Amino acid sequence: MEILFTQQELARRVTELARAIEADYQGKDLLLVGVLKGAVIFLADLMRHLSLPLAVDFMAVASYGAATKSSGVVRILKDLDTPLNARHVLLVEDIVDTGLTLRYLLDVLKARSPASLKTCVLLDKRERRQVEVPVDYCGFVIPDVFVVGYGLDYAENYRQLPYIAVFRAT
Ligand code: IMP
Repeated sequence: MEILFTQQELARRVTELARAIEADYQGKDLLLVGVLKGAVIFLADLMRHLSLPLAVDFMAVASYGAATKSSGVVRILKDLDTPLNARHVLLVEDIVDTGLTLRYLLDVLKARSPASLKTCVLLDKRERRQVEVPVDYCGFVIPDVFVVGYGLDYAENYRQLPYIAVFRAT
C-alpha cells in the first residue's frame, strides 16, 4: 500500500493542531467528543499534547445504509455520557468526506446548547463534499482516494497501522 502520511508526519501535524487548540481554549471548560471508532487513535494522540484541563467523551454512529445515506441520517449507537450545556465542545473526527455524518452530529450537539461547538478533523476530502460543514482544525486536505490506518478502516481492518495509506482493492 502506498503511504500517504508517515508516522512522523502525522505526529508533527497532530502536535501543531494541539498547539492551535491550546491557544484557543485557554480558561475554557473543554470537552473533546470523539467519534468512534475511527477517531480513537487521533484523539488519543491529540489529547496527550494538550496541556489544558479537559474532559473526553465518545459517540458512536452508524449510517442508515446506502439507500438513505444521502439524507444524512445517521443512527446514534452510543450517545454521550455528559450533558453539554455551557461546555466548550470540540468534535474530533477522523475524516470528513461528503460531510453528511459531521453535519448530522453538529445538528444533534448544537441542539444541546453547548457554550461553543467546533470541529477538529484529521483528513478532509474536500472535493467530495455534498453539504457544507465547518472544519475548524484540519490536519490534511486529501484527494478523492480511500485511505486506511491511524484509526481508519476498510471493513474493520487496518485501523492499527501507525501511518495512513491509500487502499486499493486488488
Ligand atoms: P461522510 O459522512 O461522507 O463525511 O463520511 C464520513 C465517514 O465515512 C468517516 O467517519 C469514515 O468512517 C468514512 N470514510 C470516508 N472516507 C473514508 C476513507 O477514505 N477511509 C476510511 N473511512 C472513510
